[in-house]
Amino acid sequence: MVRVQVPATAANLGPGFDCLGIALQLYNTVEMARAGSGLFIEVQGEGADEIPRDESNIVYRAAMRLFKQTESVPPGLKIKLINHIPLARGLGSSAAAIVGGLIAANILAGNRLSQKELLTLAAALEGHPDNVAPALFGGIVVSVAVDGEIKYVKIAPPPGLKAVLAVPDFSVLTKAARDVLPQLVSLQDAVFNLGRLALLITAFHQGDFSLLPAAMEDRIHQPYRASLVPGMKKVLAAARLAGARGVCLSGAGPSLLAFADGNFELIGRVMKDTFRQSGVRARTMVLKISPVGARALEKI
Ligand code: HSE
Repeated sequence: MVRVQVPATAANLGPGFDCLGIALQLYNTVEMARAGSGLFIEVQGEGADEIPRDESNIVYRAAMRLFKQTESVPPGLKIKLINHIPLARGLGSSAAAIVGGLIAANILAGNRLSQKELLTLAAALEGHPDNVAPALFGGIVVSVAVDGEIKYVKIAPPPGLKAVLAVPDFSVLTKAARDVLPQLVSLQDAVFNLGRLALLITAFHQGDFSLLPAAMEDRIHQPYRASLVPGMKKVLAAARLAGARGVCLSGAGPSLLAFADGNFELIGRVMKDTFRQSGVRARTMVLKISPVGARALEKI
C-alpha cells in the first residue's frame, strides 16, 4: 500500500491566468493498494458526501491512465481518500486528486514515469498546468505548455508571507467559471496583465511585498468572474484595508485570497464579515505556502 500527501493550490494569483500557482499547507492524503479484483473507494473528510466511489472517481481515473500508459493495470484497486481541501472552491481539489492518483499509481507501477512526465500527464488530465504544477513541486510555480510539454520554474516562497483565505459555502465549477470568460481580450488588457505578472514574479523572488497590491491586479479573468462571487470586490477591498498586501480570486473561485505578512486573524475576520454583508457565509483559513509538493509518506 502507498500513501501520498498532496497540497492544496491557489492558481492565477491575479494576473497569472493559467500559468501561475502556489502550493498551500493544507493536504489531502491518497492511499492506494492493488486488490485481487474490483474497485473499493473510501472517502473521509471534505467532499465525503459528494465524491463518487465508482469508475468516474478522479483519483481512480488518473491512476488508471498511468497504469495503462505503463502497461501495469492491476486486477483490482483499493483507494482511501482523506480530504482536507474543500471541493470546487478554487483550492485545487481536482488537481490534488489527479496528482495524488498519478503519484500513488506510479509508485505501485515501480516509478516508471519521471516527475516531468507526471506533470505533462497531470496537465493533460486537468486541462491547464497552473494547479497541478505546484501540487507536484510545491512553492510558487510558473508553468507553460510548449509543444505538448510543460516548461516550468519553481520559486521558493518568500519568508513571512501567508495566504488568508475566505472560502464561501457554495461551489463554482471551473467549467462554469471559464464559460464566463471572453474568447478575446484587448491589447490594453493583455499589456496590463503581462507587466503585472512580471512584477509579481519579481516581487516573490525578491520578497518585496510592497509591490504585491499593484502586481496582483488583473483584467483578464477576475472582472468577468465577479458575477459568480457575490461581494467579491468588496471583500478584496476590505482585506486590503485590514492590512493585506495583494488580493485575488483563488483559481477559478469562489474562494478569495489575501497575501499578508501580519494581521492574519483580523484580515480573515474582515473578509468573512464583508462576505456576510453580501449574503455569503464563508469560513477562513490562514495558510503558509507549502515549500514541498506531493510526496509519498511511507510504504506500508
Ligand atoms: N487557471 C484556471 C482557471 C484555474 O482560472 O480557470 C482553475 O482550475
